[in-house]
Amino acid sequence: MSEIAKLEALEILDSRGNPTLAVTVTLANGVKGTAKVPSGASTGKREAVELRDGDKARYDGKGVLKAKGHVDGEIQRAVRGFDANDQKGLDKKLCELDGTPNKGRLGANAILGVSLAVARASAEDHGLPLYATLVEKPANLLPTPGLNVLNGGRHADNSVDFQEFMISPVGAPSFSEGLRAAAETFHTLKDVLHKKGYSTAVGDEGGFAPQLKSNEEPIELILEAIQKAGYKPGEDIVIMLDPAASELFENGSYVFSKSDNSKKTSAEMIALWKGWLKKYPEIWSLEDGMAEDDRDGWQQITKELGNQIQLVGDDNFVTNPTLFRQGIKDGIANAILIKLNQIGTVTETLDCIQIAREHAYGAVISHRSGETDDTSIADLAVAAGMGQIKTGSASRGERIAKYNRLLEIERELGSKARYAGASIYERWRKPVKA
Ligand code: PGA
Ligand code: ZN
Repeated sequence: MSEIAKLEALEILDSRGNPTLAVTVTLANGVKGTAKVPSGASTGKREAVELRDGDKARYDGKGVLKAKGHVDGEIQRAVRGFDANDQKGLDKKLCELDGTPNKGRLGANAILGVSLAVARASAEDHGLPLYATLVEKPANLLPTPGLNVLNGGRHADNSVDFQEFMISPVGAPSFSEGLRAAAETFHTLKDVLHKKGYSTAVGDEGGFAPQLKSNEEPIELILEAIQKAGYKPGEDIVIMLDPAASELFENGSYVFSKSDNSKKTSAEMIALWKGWLKKYPEIWSLEDGMAEDDRDGWQQITKELGNQIQLVGDDNFVTNPTLFRQGIKDGIANAILIKLNQIGTVTETLDCIQIAREHAYGAVISHRSGETDDTSIADLAVAAGMGQIKTGSASRGERIAKYNRLLEIERELGSKARYAGASIYERWRKPVKA
């Protein structure tokens, strides 16, 4: 009765107004599951392929009717009758059907839509929430969120080269209280910006996107906002950064084209991060501090800072179990960013989380800059039990939907709910060896 009976894809719009896919699966017993696929802007080169039509007459070539056709046609024919409770088997079948290493034939957007819709239908069929069916052991750890309150880089039309400046309420006693502290700080940051005459319009992930004087000014403004909101920087709320350095890397150097057009070598980039960490001990996590193609730089920064702060690999690992394992061997990073659509199936995503756990790496479950109202990553974060999620600022409905889903999960878990809080970073807060 839990057999897949029907697949139906729909071309919908994401939060940037670009086409993406919604996939609905119907099981033989009438139970349905729907998944909506996100889309990145600062993508890693080795991400699975997001299939776009390339027909300039529609959505400037960004239409997804080919991917829709693959779901409705070839994929549906191949998986009709398949057991919706066999996620691993299904995902393997989808990968084999595609036949390419990067899901480029059918499209990772088509494949993820199906994979995730089936996961949702299977949960529905069990009468259980998604977080309870994605993994076998009971899940009760609510993640500490990283809220991207100031946007730059490719996510904003401003003068800031670095992409994400996040606040993380590690000192709160619960997820809901942590979210409150972060939202209050977000509102206070708006006042701080306003008083300085800066714009309070928001970027793609709901953080403010003002024209600032330097790449460092966001930190100063955020620290001021944390304090003015009544919280202690470094204790109640810490800072996480995702400069998305791959976007700055040109011919072997880092180019700050949005601010002052200066250039830095790999060693100078590491020196910059070290300087910031010294000046701002409130920073505890740095994602993509080095570019995906700067393997030596990544190794060097991991050697120098890997025992002090969290170093998250996004563009270099692209949620790909093979690339992640290689990165671990190469001594790169101590945490991984997890994005379902970088790899395209639920199973491979869960594999990466498991590899992280086995190697004592952190894992941050993440949204994309192009999102929908799909809230699956909130459930994934609880199922993963790794204690971290980043899903934007305290604004924009597609970001808030995930935080609201976590509030529901917290209520549903009741007295069983635990909040990751500061436990996520204490393991990296070892004293620096002299
Ligand atoms: P993206 O950005 O979704 O545009 O890739 C998110 C990130 O780099 O973490
Ligand atoms: Zn990133």
